Amino acid sequence: MKKLNLRDIKKLKQKNLQVLTCYDYQTANILNETDLEMILVGDSVGNVILGYETTVEVTVEEMELFGKAVRRGAPDKFLIVDMPFGSYATITQGIKTATRLFQATKAEALKLEGAFPYQLKLIERLTQVGIPVMGHIGLTPQSVHQLGGYYTHGKNQNSADRLMNEAKALEAAGVFCIVLEMVEENLAEEITKTLSVPTIGIGAGKKTDGQVLVINDLLKMGRQMPPKFCTPVADLFETKKSLIQKYLGDQRL
Ligand code: KIV
Repeated sequence: MKKLNLRDIKKLKQKNLQVLTCYDYQTANILNETDLEMILVGDSVGNVILGYETTVEVTVEEMELFGKAVRRGAPDKFLIVDMPFGSYATITQGIKTATRLFQATKAEALKLEGAFPYQLKLIERLTQVGIPVMGHIGLTPQSVHQLGGYYTHGKNQNSADRLMNEAKALEAAGVFCIVLEMVEENLAEEITKTLSVPTIGIGAGKKTDGQVLVINDLLKMGRQMPPKFCTPVADLFETKKSLIQKYLGDQRL
């Protein structure tokens, strides 16, 4: 499959485009040989790889390290790297962080959470500089403490209107696509129909232009059950454990 560019991705509206997260070189090697459209080095690396309680703990240094590993492993995929918590709290800081991550990881795009006016200005500036940005609204895990937990957004009129306005504002600011995380599914569909850039859902129903999943959830690499919206295709936790257990047993024969 030919490496996609920004113009290709914008044309994938309504084409069911698929995104998976990735954090390491060898998994990136696998994804590089699949039909996957985009790889996201999400700050979910904090939860599933580093064992942090929330993504708030993830640093720019960590995103750079994991981003570089995935880039080396998946040279042929459109790569997006997350800007971590607190690294774009002002426009100046955001431009500095984005320049560092974009240059060091050689990603094709960066992602940041939220659509406050200063974030819209930052997105506008980054796209002018030449750094494509993926938006992210609904449940924005970096704000978990401010939001008061992890839950579905857009269930009442106020919240739905706010999300619709945020989505339109992000598009106007220049994002090339938008993640809708835990957005009520009818609203996610409505936003998808309203925007001309692709929407990528996670826990937002099936009517978005694409889906993103945390690869560790899809393959059930952890002890805990993945979130309800993700049906794992394997149970690598148990598979790996029993293979190791069998190896140990064989050594002791
Ligand atoms: O960090 C991440 O993996 C994400 C996706 C869940 C969208 O932001």
